[in-house]
This record gives sequence, structure tokens and C-alpha cells, in this order.
Amino acid sequence: MANNSGENSSLRFLSNQSLKKILVQGININSLLSKNDLGLKEPIQKEIVFGVLRYFFFLENNLSRHLKQAIKNKDIDVKLLILMGIYEIKFMKTPAYAAINETVEVCHQLGKTWAKGLVNAVLRKTATAESKLENIEEDLPVWISKKLDVNFPDHCHMIKKAFLIKPQMTLRINQNKISSKDYKDKLEKAAISFRASPFDEAILLDEPRPSSDLPGWHDGELSIQDLGAITLGRLFFSQINNERQKDVRLLDACSAPGGKLFQLTELSAFHRIDCSITALEISKKRIKTMCDLGKRLDHKVHVIQGDASTDAWWDKKPFTHILVDAPCSSSGTIRRNPDIKLILKEKSLPSLQKKQLDILTNLWKKLSPGGLLFYSTCSLFNEENDLLIHKFVNKERDAEILKFRVPANVTNALLTEYGCNLLPFDKISDGFYCSLISRKTI
Ligand SMILES: C[S@@+](CC[C@H](N)C(=O)[O-])C[C@H]1O[C@@H](n2cnc3c(N)ncnc32)[C@H](O)[C@@H]1O
Repeated sequence: MANNSGENSSLRFLSNQSLKKILVQGININSLLSKNDLGLKEPIQKEIVFGVLRYFFFLENNLSRHLKQAIKNKDIDVKLLILMGIYEIKFMKTPAYAAINETVEVCHQLGKTWAKGLVNAVLRKTATAESKLENIEEDLPVWISKKLDVNFPDHCHMIKKAFLIKPQMTLRINQNKISSKDYKDKLEKAAISFRASPFDEAILLDEPRPSSDLPGWHDGELSIQDLGAITLGRLFFSQINNERQKDVRLLDACSAPGGKLFQLTELSAFHRIDCSITALEISKKRIKTMCDLGKRLDHKVHVIQGDASTDAWWDKKPFTHILVDAPCSSSGTIRRNPDIKLILKEKSLPSLQKKQLDILTNLWKKLSPGGLLFYSTCSLFNEENDLLIHKFVNKERDAEILKFRVPANVTNALLTEYGCNLLPFDKISDGFYCSLISRKTI
């Protein structure tokens, strides 16, 4: 962190503007990161922005305790600035006096010097008030909290608490390039501490670090992928591997940025499955990102730009396997993307569900009889998961749900009527859902 006070307040000013873009314009944090947003460049900035989002409602509560009247909407930057200061005082090691001074200084850059007294007063009160951080059980809007209560009566508390934990970084080793053992040796040599996971190729780092600093990154020896996502890919692949069918024609219908696509490419090469994979994706921009990733990994994949809910892209040859990693609310990834809880609106769920059903229904006709469709989301909302599959199988007479055989060492799986949820327990996995549907020959 820079020592200069002006620089420090500039960093905070830029982070304040990033938070404003998220809350006012609804721009998600990943797209800010991908555009190298200046408010998210330095580690301290990321810590503050992610922290404010992760503890938004707790911080807002703290603020309102010290206010006689609410801050006006047009001054949301001032409100966010105070939340940033409260976060620093309560959660970070910055000495309170420094956090207060730096934060108050930002009022100049906002062109709102009138707010200096207010910011100063609230932060001083915060610094002297008792903090009870250990009591924070959840930090969610009421509608999401209620939904989790209804969908997961036995696990909602654990899920909500898990959404407050910073996720662990998981590496997926490309075992066609380097064995897991040799890669672990490289990590040890580089003094990077890690632990094993349920899968040979997946390694959990004790501390996150920039991916480009990892050994073998530029040689394509590894990818970064959440352990839950790796688990999904493994569940699907174990079906393909068990069948050992010749001439597997696999469609990855919503493929960018290619996490599962490249995982399946690597697994089928490693297990010597004769598999041709087609990647379909609607977004040109995301195809570009995916192809750049593919280049680093040395994977050549057939990519088509197209809409999975239409036929325009299809060459009329049926697929034996289809993966639909559907566009969804991403509600299962709130601890990794805490902006979701503030940007996502309940009223957007029906249109998401319609999109998911349209994609499923259209692709079903492209699956050969006896073929397998694997549907997945990174959401924990029933509308996008079991309820959607229920609607789908009631409509398609030749659809048959297959039961998952989840490896015993995957401890966060919860079987449902139509599939399986992966629950975001502790640090290791985001929340996911998957369902396996076979097309009966009738
Ligand atoms: C959840 S992401 C897929 C993640 C990817 N499978 C992975 O593992 O990295 C969903 C993707 O579907 C794409 N998408 C959304 N609607 C689509 C459609 N109608 N047809 C094809 N792709 C679509 C989105 O642009 C997004 O890249």
C-alpha cells in the first residue's frame, strides 16, 4: 500500500466510484475486473470493495444507527464512502485514526466537502462502538434469505454463513501436460502451500494469488476453477467414462468462458475417450475470452457462435451428449461474487427460467435417442433447478431422470428429486445444481 496520504485517499476515491458503478448502474464486479477498473487494482482496494459488498447490510445498519436522517439517493457516493470507512475500522487492520483521515479526505475528490463533518462523526462513533462481528449470521436481502429458508430448511443457516466466507482458490491441473504429483512438487518448491481435494487433478491453495504467478501458468499446465464446478464436470464425465461409448459427439451448449469445456477436453484425452466436442456460445466477446484461454492451454476446440434456443447453428447431426451449463442468477456464487445479492432482482427470475426452458427444450431435439443431457446452474433457487426440470420432464415424454452416484468424498452434495445440489459449505465450493436426463428410445 502506498504511504502517501493523497495517494491513499485517491485509491479509496477510485474504489468508491467502482462501488457506485455496481450499485447504481448494476455493472457486475467481474466485468469491472475484466476491464481493469482502477478502483479494483490494488489489493487494499479489492479488500475494501469486496468487503463492503460482502457485509453491505451489516455496514448499512451500523451507519443508520448513527444517522438522524437517511442520506439522499443523489449522495449515494457519500453513503458508500462511509460504508467503506466502517468496513476498514471493523474488519481490517488499518488503525482507526488512519482509516478516518483517509476516508474523510475522499470528500474533496467527490466534490462534497460539506460531507466531511458527517463522515468524520459517523466513523469516530463507529471506532468507539463495540463490535460484535462474531454474531453476523448472514448478510442478504430479505427475499434471498427467505428463498434459502424455503429451499433448504435443514441447511439454510450453513449456506448463509458460508456466503460470508472468502472462497478458496482451486487449481485444476491438466494431467495431459503434467501429473498432479509433479505439479504439487512444483508448488512445494515455490513455497506455495496447498491441500488435496476429492479429485486428483484439483488442488486447493491455502492463500489466493495472481494466477500468472503460479508455476506452469504460461505453459498451460493449469486452470483456475471452483471445486464445485470441477465436481460438476466430474459427475458428467463419469457417466461418459462408464459408458465407454465409441464416437461420443458432445455439445457444450453454453460454453464460455470454457471452464467445463476445457475440463472435459482434458478428461477425455486423459481417459482416452474418442470424443468430438462442439462448443456453442451466444456471446462473441465471451467466445474471444474462451479462445484466449484455450490458446494458453493448447486446446483446439470447434466453437460455434449461436443461440442454443434456436436451430440456425445446427448441422442436423444429433449429439450423443449435451451439457447445458445454463445462464442463471448465479445465486450460488454469492461469496465469490457478493455484488450479486445487490444487483439481482427477484422479478428477473421468471425470464431467466423461460430462457433456461427454451434452451433445454430446443436442445432436447438435438440429442440422439439413448443420449444424455446434463443440466447445471450455479444457482440455489428451485425455480432454476428442480422446478425447472420438473416442468421439462412433464413436457417431454421421452425424458428420464437418472440418479447421480456421487463419490463418497464429495461431502457437500445433496440429492434432490430431479438431481443434485452442491452446497457452498466452508471455503471450498460455490453452490451448484445439476440434473442428468436420458433420452429414452420409445
Ligand atoms: C454459466 S455460463 C457457462 C459457463 C461455462 N460452461 C464454464 O464452465 O465456464 C453461461 C453461458 O451461456 C451463454 N449463453 C446465454 N444464453 C445463451 C444462449 N441462448 N445460447 C448459447 N449460449 C448462451 C452466456 O453468454 C454464458 O457464457
